[in-house]
Amino acid sequence: MRPKAELHLHIEGTLEPELVVELARRNRIHLPTFDVEAIRARYSFANLQSFLDVYYENMAVLRTEADFHDLAAAYLRRAAGQGVRHAEIFFDPQAHLSRGVPLNVVFDGLSAALKESELSAELILCFLRDRGAEEAEQVLRAALPYREHFIGVGLDSAEVGYPPSLFRKVFEIAAGEGLHRVAHAGEEGGPDYVWEALDILRVERVDHGIRAMEDPQLVARLRAERIPLTVCPLSNVRLRAVPSLRDHILPAMLDEGLLVTVNSDDPAYFGGYVDDNYEALRRELGMTDDQLDRIARNSFEASFVQARL
Ligand code: HPA
Ligand code: ZN
Repeated sequence: MRPKAELHLHIEGTLEPELVVELARRNRIHLPTFDVEAIRARYSFANLQSFLDVYYENMAVLRTEADFHDLAAAYLRRAAGQGVRHAEIFFDPQAHLSRGVPLNVVFDGLSAALKESELSAELILCFLRDRGAEEAEQVLRAALPYREHFIGVGLDSAEVGYPPSLFRKVFEIAAGEGLHRVAHAGEEGGPDYVWEALDILRVERVDHGIRAMEDPQLVARLRAERIPLTVCPLSNVRLRAVPSLRDHILPAMLDEGLLVTVNSDDPAYFGGYVDDNYEALRRELGMTDDQLDRIARNSFEASFVQARL
């Protein structure tokens, strides 16, 4: 299997229905159904928000350090089986703090799993853009005592209506702490969101970024500065950002000379882990081994931390 880095992966999006049920039993949490197939049957989404509703609801089963450990350990095992050698992993502390799960539980559980893993893996703390800039700043300050546990900050959750410019200050604070910076932009939002992420948040990588292709000047900038884009093809199909994989703009992005990578985003929800995304591109879009090798090489170039290969 082709060695690769995974750079756009929400650890909470790796919560498989089987683990939802196991953790609910362990924590004595009531679920509307304990039937794995019935849970999976809900995973048909009209857009980003309809996915986020289920994603946040399922997270209620994550309570203890052991839960976060087991979640990350399961992902790292599966990723290793898909050729992943290095992962830079998003997590959403606000989605846990708002349920009364303290930061130390989240950090200790995730970090313990990362330390045990054969992969090299790092954490990126994401702000939930729909909870606003003030709360983002509060969570960053609360996370600074755990500074050695994460390498950067990101911006995720509902995109449209929450432009990057709202988060200027918190990204400035993060930069001052020597943290790397990324943001979801151009998934549902237009190219203007990608411009703002670059110019105002000074991001070093753009998550998704597929709508950047609507603006030739932006494409020229991304190419000239070799700014990586973490594209998630199966996610884009499942969240209807593109009508089908055959319509995906990824081959055109590669032809434009952009530093494109392929990632799984929320694999428990979108029908595949990272190599399943590579395989779907080969099968549905006829992408060649040379193209897929180039994307895999890009993933190492786009990493913040050099993999211990
Ligand atoms: N987009 C925005 N926020 C998210 C996503 C996504 O694909 N997955 C988890 N949070
Ligand atoms: Zn994402």
